[in-house]
Amino acid sequence: MPTITRVGVLGCGLMGSGIAQTAAAAGFPTVVRDVGDALLDTGRAGIRKSLDKLAEKGKLDPATPDAALGRLRFVTDLDALSDCDLIIEAITEDLELKNTLWRELDALCPPATIFASNTSSLSIAEMAAATGRPDRFVGLHFFNPVPLMPLVEVVRTVTTSRDTFDAALDFSRRLGKEPIVARDRSGFIVNLLLVPFLLDAIRALERGVGTTADIDRGMQLGCGHPMGPLTLADFVGLDTTARIADIMFEEYREPRYAPPPLLRRMVVAGFHGRKSGRGFYDYSATPPVPIDLGL
Ligand code: CAA
Ligand code: NAD
Repeated sequence: MPTITRVGVLGCGLMGSGIAQTAAAAGFPTVVRDVGDALLDTGRAGIRKSLDKLAEKGKLDPATPDAALGRLRFVTDLDALSDCDLIIEAITEDLELKNTLWRELDALCPPATIFASNTSSLSIAEMAAATGRPDRFVGLHFFNPVPLMPLVEVVRTVTTSRDTFDAALDFSRRLGKEPIVARDRSGFIVNLLLVPFLLDAIRALERGVGTTADIDRGMQLGCGHPMGPLTLADFVGLDTTARIADIMFEEYREPRYAPPPLLRRMVVAGFHGRKSGRGFYDYSATPPVPIDLGL
């Protein structure tokens, strides 16, 4: 089985920053790449805050935040990832964007480097086929917020070698995560079930079944969910949720995966959820308040 020592992460957004933090805290020297310094600065600040919070609560050793930050390099230059053993991609959910990057990396990295995608809904096979190493390509699907959520879906597509798959399972465990194995089908296991639920909550709001606050409270207090579905959609990102829905609808052609009209309108209006300050809630207020969407 290939040995993974150095880790590269593509994208320093919600997921990339969480994956990079988790890898560095687990002891891996980690390089994280995004397309601008401001994005990297935001990611680095989020990682510092999250590490300090975990140490404050006794979930990490007090020395770990500084040690983890010492193992992290934030770069805009793709060449800096050329000596990584494993590269995990967590950029925008867009096949063309991802494949452009995979082609560049394929030319840059030695043949042994394993490529992994954190995609929520795209086909691992379609990304693997864009590279000259389809046997060394695997899905590693983390959950948001990565430092707190214990699950990773490990996805073996038709071309993934046994060695690559085993290395991905082993790496997930070395991060302290619990892997489950999912087939390469859009949404894997968790999003196949979660995404229709989030979209149904948006449709319920659109149809006037309940208010934003009541739909969320209903699922929290009635079903014990830690977050209501509209809060969770804001947390995932409404832009990302809409992209995932489009991709899943394209794969399955079932109405339950179709993005509701309200979601599309919110995305074009720049309501991208918590990361943009506004979604179903206005996050400039503490606690966040539901936004009047003119329904
Ligand atoms: N790093 C460190 N600490 C964090 C943190 C982070 N990233 N995020 C939250 N915390 C801390 C909070 O600061 C808080 O600390 P205090 O107790 O000191 O205040 C603590 O964790 C608990 O957080 P909260 O009080 O906000 O509330 P919580 O008990 O609800 O926990 C949560 C937060 C773990 C995120 C919980 O709300 C939860 O499990 N939510 C659901 C998340 C979920 O479903 N994720 C999956 C999304 S789908 C996906 O990821 C797949 C996809 O492809 C789209
Ligand atoms: P995000 O919008 O928070 O971050 C995406 C980042 O990728 C941005 O910072 C962007 O600048 C960067 N980026 C774009 N092109 C790039 C390139 N060529 N090189 C390097 N960086 C580039 O998105 P996110 O929520 O972190 O989602 C990232 C991926 O993870 C998507 O595939 C998404 O489906 C998946 N995912 C998201 C969640 C979630 O809850 N948000 C959960 C699991 C998986």
